[in-house]
Amino acid sequence: MKILVLGAGGFIGCHLTHRLLQERHAVTAVDLDMDKIADSLNDPNLSFLQQDIRSAEWDLDKRVQDADLVIDLIAYANPGLYLIMPLEVFRLNFTENLKIAEACVRHGKRLIQFSTCEVYGRTAASLKNANLADPEDPIHATFSEDTSEFILGPVSKHRWIYSCAKQLLERVLHAYGLEMGFNYTIVRPFNFIGPKIDFLLHEKQGIPRVFSFFMDALLNGTQMKLVDGGTNRRCYTYIEDGIECTNRIVENPGGVCDRQILNIGSPQNEISICRMAELMREIFAEKFRDLAVRLPDIVSVTGEEFYGKGYDDSNRRIPDIAKVRTLLNWEPRTGIREILETTMRYYVSEYRRNGGSRVPATA
Ligand code: NAD
Ligand code: UGA
Repeated sequence: MKILVLGAGGFIGCHLTHRLLQERHAVTAVDLDMDKIADSLNDPNLSFLQQDIRSAEWDLDKRVQDADLVIDLIAYANPGLYLIMPLEVFRLNFTENLKIAEACVRHGKRLIQFSTCEVYGRTAASLKNANLADPEDPIHATFSEDTSEFILGPVSKHRWIYSCAKQLLERVLHAYGLEMGFNYTIVRPFNFIGPKIDFLLHEKQGIPRVFSFFMDALLNGTQMKLVDGGTNRRCYTYIEDGIECTNRIVENPGGVCDRQILNIGSPQNEISICRMAELMREIFAEKFRDLAVRLPDIVSVTGEEFYGKGYDDSNRRIPDIAKVRTLLNWEPRTGIREILETTMRYYVSEYRRNGGSRVPATA
């Protein structure tokens, strides 16, 4: 197949492109950045375009016309950005992505659109008026694609603009499917994690996701900061498991994914952020002893201190994966300890490769 991968230079995009090339597809990869995809650039089946999709020279229609399948991963996907530039998050994640979807509608191309588990928002159990016999029962935090309600915070908590932009895009794709027979598949990933997830703070300015904050703290001896005590929980999905599932969606046997919304996640990997900090510290001490001269302190900060005004958070989210199990016979394989160890090993080896030495602890 000829596949157009938009956002191929990002975390999920670089792993997906690598896999699609292994599967012998011809890939046109588009991104602003090429660092993460550097090891695929010599593949004769890859054509890489370093391109801002917002620029006037970007010939969206031609690229879509040339493809058999379009996969759109472009977004601002780090929560820190939702707080700093909510309008840009809306413009890129909704307006620009809508143009891609509408080009697919115009040219009759199938689209795999990456959305997010953030559309589900918070759990009913987290509401002040929740009156549940056992609020800890995972059933109250398990989200299903076609039946769960979406619970978001007020407009003043602008963290939710990411969730809303993605939700609106999903609703428009659904409407194009209903009214014009548009063929899309919407993917809702639940916290994919693995090598290349994000940069480390000592390498680059910016606001990565939590793994990179913690990894950076371990390497540099600075504090591991728990936002609001780190009590919120996530289900982490190893990138290779997520890519295996995505590849089955690309293959789409018998059209089972046509006009479907699909969760991809690892329900068994639920962990609080606090426990994740402790586990990463334990693994670091056990597996990378020479670097673990002094382990960082784990401290608590408020969401507002860490991210600024307008921060809010998903308290808990567990994927219901019955649909991908049934349609694609997919099962996540990698447990949380193995995920963290493998991802940490990647960052430690990069750190050593770049001549890193232990910075004395200041915390
Ligand atoms: P990422 O930030 O690593 O990748 C996004 C890529 O888009 C980046 O490489 C970036 O350079 C590119 N991009 C941004 N603006 C662009 C522009 N104007 N022109 C061209 N390229 C541009 O994010 P990711 O973690 O790989 O996520 C990929 C998709 O999956 C996103 O849509 C995200 O919302 C969604 N998602 C990811 C996760 C996850 O666990 N990582 C979870 C839920 C949803
Ligand atoms: C992410 C992003 O929104 C998207 O990439 C994506 O849509 C989604 O999750 C996903 O991966 O499924 P989130 O899980 O909140 O959102 O991202 P992180 O920045 O990794 O934060 C996870 C938790 O760690 C939050 O509770 C945050 O407050 C906390 N955190 C973050 C800390 O306690 N300390 C830190 O140093 C950083």
